[in-house]
Amino acid sequence: MHRLKKGVLIVFEGVDGAGKSTQARLLYERLTKAHFEAELSKEPTEGTWGKKLRKLIDGGRGDVGPQEELEWFIKDRFQHVEEIIKPGLKNNKIIILDRYYFSTIAYQGALGVDPREIEKRNNEFAPEPNLLFLIEIPPAAGIKRIKKSRGEKTDSFERESYLFRVGQIFHSLDKPFLYRLPGKESVQKLSDRTWEITTAYLREHNLIER
Ligand code: TYD
Repeated sequence: MHRLKKGVLIVFEGVDGAGKSTQARLLYERLTKAHFEAELSKEPTEGTWGKKLRKLIDGGRGDVGPQEELEWFIKDRFQHVEEIIKPGLKNNKIIILDRYYFSTIAYQGALGVDPREIEKRNNEFAPEPNLLFLIEIPPAAGIKRIKKSRGEKTDSFERESYLFRVGQIFHSLDKPFLYRLPGKESVQKLSDRTWEITTAYLREHNLIER
């Protein structure tokens, strides 16, 4: 087993259908196979708030406003940070997240909440990632993929223009740890790319114990 000198947080983000869940899982599998101690986790979580959020997203928002929705995502994340993310990092593991607070910036930002305000709220408790992989894809292509692979009904126009705004906010993110990846590339090529970036990061920061 390779031991690390400290924990590493790796985040995958993108609009629905971009392929981030697949890429997060592939990176997790490659790291595990190469004898790194890694953990894969996702948001919304399976916790109380995460379950409420999935119901809200799948079943329609009803009279829950954007500000309230934001509070739920923050509560869900707070629990995730305390119970999974911080303990994992403390144990020098590689924590891989399928969505994190950049999703809140983009999705709740696209509902009208100020993205800077969302980021500020999150920075108060959620650690910054070491690496952020943003898989970029035109929203129409993402919707097409979801329909094909999951047989989901997405109510076209409204959903598409919402995801377009989400994609725009994602695209405007500017962070030193952000890597933009073209979602139109093959699964294999994208996976090779995230693997190269991750292992280069571990080497360059001299994080592997010997
Ligand atoms: P997703 O990872 O796409 O779930 P699934 O794998 O079940 O399809 O996430 C569900 C939805 O939650 C997705 O449309 C994006 C949304 N979301 C937000 O709006 N804000 C957030 O902060 C997060 C984490 C997710």
